[in-house]
Amino acid sequence: MAANVALSQALAYARDLRNLYEVTRAREAEIARAHDKLRAAYQQSLTYAVDLKKTHRRLQSSILQSLLGLANALEAKDEYTRGHSDRVAALARRLALAAGCGSREAATIAHAGLLHDLGKIAVPERILRKPGPLTDDEWSVMRRHPLTGAQIVAPLEFFADGALIVRHHHERHDGSGYPDGLVGDTIPVGSRIVAIADVYDALTSDRPYRPALTVCRARERLLAEADRTLDRRLVAIFLDTVLHEPSDPSFRQ
Ligand SMILES: [Fe+2]
Repeated sequence: MAANVALSQALAYARDLRNLYEVTRAREAEIARAHDKLRAAYQQSLTYAVDLKKTHRRLQSSILQSLLGLANALEAKDEYTRGHSDRVAALARRLALAAGCGSREAATIAHAGLLHDLGKIAVPERILRKPGPLTDDEWSVMRRHPLTGAQIVAPLEFFADGALIVRHHHERHDGSGYPDGLVGDTIPVGSRIVAIADVYDALTSDRPYRPALTVCRARERLLAEADRTLDRRLVAIFLDTVLHEPSDPSFRQ
């Protein structure tokens, strides 16, 4: 009798264990399906993230191209500044490469050269085109253009270095520049490069108050500015190498 009870209990335990086993297997299969679904959703999210990143990058590149067009349009209104930024960009790129910058850094410097005066869009025409000397108040408006330009390009995350170059393109080696009065090597190298290209192109272009200087006279002026307003090492590289190279407009590609 006792043996029968024990047998019956053992069978009941076995049935319970079997049921438990089957429930556990069903749960495991459910978890495996859920895991597969989660994994697929994760992969899909990764794909979306990559697509979104590409779209974001394309959008920012389009905005940059629009700003480059805007910079050209801005200076095209004035016969004295027409083509200035294009020339500054080409010279700046060549100087950057000659000074040892990589091709990506040189491209950023060239784009910053194209955009360096974009902030002048916020300077009233009466100040921009004033034939005589500016008053102190007018100068203070004019001197805001590097900050304004940097603010315009600030939303372009991939162009953060370019924004910094635009902001500091009127800093001077001896600290007498603006907006921050940076000195020597504390000025971003891209800004020091754009400054040399900017000064050289201004010197060799006609202005309402003087004709263009010859290359020889412009060289002398750059040498005179070395260590005062411009970086001496970069001026030397510019004079010794860049001015002897054929121009290369490929920086815009
Ligand atoms: Fe400027």
